[in-house]
Amino acid sequence: MIEVINGNVFHLQNNRISYVFYIMKNDQLGHLYFGNPLGRLSEMDIRYLIERNNKSGGTVKFSQEDGMFTLADQAQEYPVYGSSDFKEGAIDVFHENEPWYLDFKFVRYHLSKGKERQLAVPSAYAAADESETLTIQLSDEEHRLDLSLSFSIFTDFAVIAKNQQIVNRGQDPVRIQKMLSGVLELPSADYDFLQLSGAWLKERHIKRRKLEQGTVSAGSLKGASGHQHNPFIALVEKNADNNKGNVYAANLIYSGNFLGQVEVDEWDNTRLMIGINPAYFSWELNADESFSTPEALLFFSDQGLNGISNQTGRFAEKHIIDRKWSNEIRPIVFNNWEATYFDFDQKKLLALAKAGKDLGMECFVIDDGWFGKRDNAKSSLGDWYADPKKFPDGLGKFARQIHEMKLQLGIWFEPEMISPDSDLYRLHPEWVVKHPYSRASVGRGQFVLDFADPKVVDAIYGQLKKVILDTQLDYIKWDMNRNITEAYSNYLSQKKIDQTEFFHRYILGVYSLYAKILTDFPEILIEGCAGGGGRYDLGILFYSPQIWPSDDSDAVERLKIQSGTLLGYPLSSFSNHVSASPNHQTERITSLKMRQDVAMFGPLGYELNLAALSDHEKEEITARIAFYKNNRQLLTFGTFYQLIEVKEDSNEYAWAVFNEEKTEAVIAFFRILAKPNSSVQEFLKVPFICTDRTYLVNGQTVSGQVLKNIGIRKPYQFNGVNHDQAEVKGDFQSYTYYLKEKIPNSSGGSSNGKI
Ligand code: GLA
Repeated sequence: MIEVINGNVFHLQNNRISYVFYIMKNDQLGHLYFGNPLGRLSEMDIRYLIERNNKSGGTVKFSQEDGMFTLADQAQEYPVYGSSDFKEGAIDVFHENEPWYLDFKFVRYHLSKGKERQLAVPSAYAAADESETLTIQLSDEEHRLDLSLSFSIFTDFAVIAKNQQIVNRGQDPVRIQKMLSGVLELPSADYDFLQLSGAWLKERHIKRRKLEQGTVSAGSLKGASGHQHNPFIALVEKNADNNKGNVYAANLIYSGNFLGQVEVDEWDNTRLMIGINPAYFSWELNADESFSTPEALLFFSDQGLNGISNQTGRFAEKHIIDRKWSNEIRPIVFNNWEATYFDFDQKKLLALAKAGKDLGMECFVIDDGWFGKRDNAKSSLGDWYADPKKFPDGLGKFARQIHEMKLQLGIWFEPEMISPDSDLYRLHPEWVVKHPYSRASVGRGQFVLDFADPKVVDAIYGQLKKVILDTQLDYIKWDMNRNITEAYSNYLSQKKIDQTEFFHRYILGVYSLYAKILTDFPEILIEGCAGGGGRYDLGILFYSPQIWPSDDSDAVERLKIQSGTLLGYPLSSFSNHVSASPNHQTERITSLKMRQDVAMFGPLGYELNLAALSDHEKEEITARIAFYKNNRQLLTFGTFYQLIEVKEDSNEYAWAVFNEEKTEAVIAFFRILAKPNSSVQEFLKVPFICTDRTYLVNGQTVSGQVLKNIGIRKPYQFNGVNHDQAEVKGDFQSYTYYLKEKIPNSSGGSSNGKI
């Protein structure tokens, strides 16, 4: 997969991509190409790619010795600002108060196979026959700094993983002010910048705008990747759509403050960079110390947004999320939060669990409110022992009763948080992230624990471990409900470590707690959550195979949230819950059908008062759960396709999930607001159909040719006269198709196929 040509050109190639860079005449690394595979590069090709007999106008030359050579118009692998290139660089290092203009020159390279999965820090992992890594050793001799850049390529994926390590070989400490993880330079600005942005209750909406000269960015300074912006960003060729056109995407395997930015220069060259947000960050590097960046992923597809989403999703499943979760069944969860909020006791929970079991659910999750004396959001975070008022017989007994019902048990924790009204706070007020200022900001009535301090992490783990052992716990919902302000750690202050290291050390502390839990209890399924979708990132997915995408479980809003999220993350990474109508976040009234249709794309769950269901609703849920169980593999791990382009104000969505062999698919069509008197001849193109096969679409025989070229018919909408034929009417329409290949001479019916 990796070829080194003439000792100075590096070609990483598989069946999907080529990534090419070389050693420039100043011994730094220049970028040449990322895109479709180039095959074997001849001497002539290489000369053609490298040749630069000219320079852009108005530039400063790199040195007196290097003639016309300037970094200003060179695509680079790891650019540095200020030595003939005026764009922002990937790394800034200061010595005392003086910026260093670094000159990292090639020293040697090294090839290795495979990537180990190490729980301490999330990164992509792969077996020896699945990936190759090229590590380039660079050095700035004058400043006594070594830099190694790693580039990994994987069998059958259109992605390059990058990370970097710097070592201080000098005597004096230096300060890293900025060290980003991913850089991609493109020789054109003909792209839209796509970001997944929003807020609490409306996370990861797709936003797309045209690139212009200057800088655009999405990032976070909240101590978490955040609800507002996601580390997934993309450059989408201007005319690219769902199924065609070039798309480059970047993501960071990291859950803390990040920055994803794109700068377009005066010649319309585009520089994309992603990494730890340099604002409020710096890292002191003493003699012989090293610092490593989180890993960045750069994806490419020439098959539009579906192409990129297919790559990002599959890659996360195979090389980031623990692979065991691709084989283990994801349980259908019942979560009590929206059914009871804080108002419950063991009796009420057991009744709900029994009702859930009767409907076919598989894992009962006790959400917030089971510990300390927590009857509202104002107390007890940090006191992870059951409230005897709610569990007079003890949590262990309750767990046994759940397990006796043949249900799994899940419990909600918010391990990083502490309430001012808690035993832990009374014992250790110094464990709180809090500046010595007299004022401290509060969010949801709580403070953040100082996870930069290993003893705080240990103490919390000690409490969690007791509960896990006592309950033989199967599932954890790990929440994180407030962001970090006035970041300050007493521990760092005592250790004389600069507070600008806090945010990164905090997130490493979070990872260390995950590592402790998963080392002792590798079978536990952890669901990530952060006040809904405030930390939906690859760092969390490395440990938690699924994440609660948003506190907004309204089916209409979820169309936007799930559509955006699916660009960067797989179907299997969701926790989708069917909740009550009217919805608790929007008060919108939607049908149970629509709520179940939206939630079945990915791991399915329920979060509503089961005691209040009508018999008809119970039947609908039982039937859907039966369908889901029969098609769980397809709905969790199938290949997802958007059939209609998603825009900020889309009124129609069509989602499809099909299996790799293309023999069956589930398709859902959603229309938010009814359209009066619409045409009865509207079709949805189905791009993944095989034209030489015949299919049954909801029992009706249709050829692959017709489906591919014309599509499946949209459901007949009520148009004022078609009272008997209308399949959808009113607002919030939802219609599902089950599509299966028709095998000649078979009856074609399938028990799997009733939605
Ligand atoms: C957060 C989560 C919810 C729920 C509540 C409990 O808001 O996102 O799902 O767990 O906390 O307090």
